[in-house]
Amino acid sequence: MPASPSVQPPASPKPALGEPRRGFFAKAAAVVLGGLVVVCPFLAGLAAFLDPLNRKVARGAYMRVTPFDALADDGTPRRFPVIAARRDAWNKYPPEPVGAVFMRRVKTAERVEVFNVICPHLGCSVSFNGPRDIFQCPCHTSAFELDGAVISGPSPRGLDTLEFEIRDANGVEEVWVRFENFYTGRADKEPKE
Ligand code: FES
Repeated sequence: MPASPSVQPPASPKPALGEPRRGFFAKAAAVVLGGLVVVCPFLAGLAAFLDPLNRKVARGAYMRVTPFDALADDGTPRRFPVIAARRDAWNKYPPEPVGAVFMRRVKTAERVEVFNVICPHLGCSVSFNGPRDIFQCPCHTSAFELDGAVISGPSPRGLDTLEFEIRDANGVEEVWVRFENFYTGRADKEPKE
């Protein structure tokens, strides 16, 4: 009997000459792109951190809020916006409100009291109830004395006081406030980063 022809498996295709080189370049490009994805945000963040203008509006910066004479003599609190020029790594924004404070004159050596308007319970804005001379939160009815102490409601601490300085501006006394926000829902007063 004649021998049947053996069936040979199909020869595997030989890689074209350029393929190993293309694979190398593709891997190298992936490594470079991956590196850029990590490094670029890091460099942008570093530049923003080192920029002196950014540090001016960083947490705890003093900001001009009002002339001292704008405060009522009788100690009635008044609400003021806190305005700051914000800037990130790419853009400089026009001045805009970054928060708000209640401020009032007091007959002590410190002369004024300043509170952040944010309720320490869950972060709503408190308002001043003139007829009752207290601060009230509209969200869960926390109430606070004129000095910020809790009267009633779920707030775990009194209103957050803020540091201030009285500065002279060509004969006009101005109140500058070291503006900060604080974590809500806890008894201790911890500044937010
Ligand atoms: S947020 Fe003010 S009482 Fe809840």
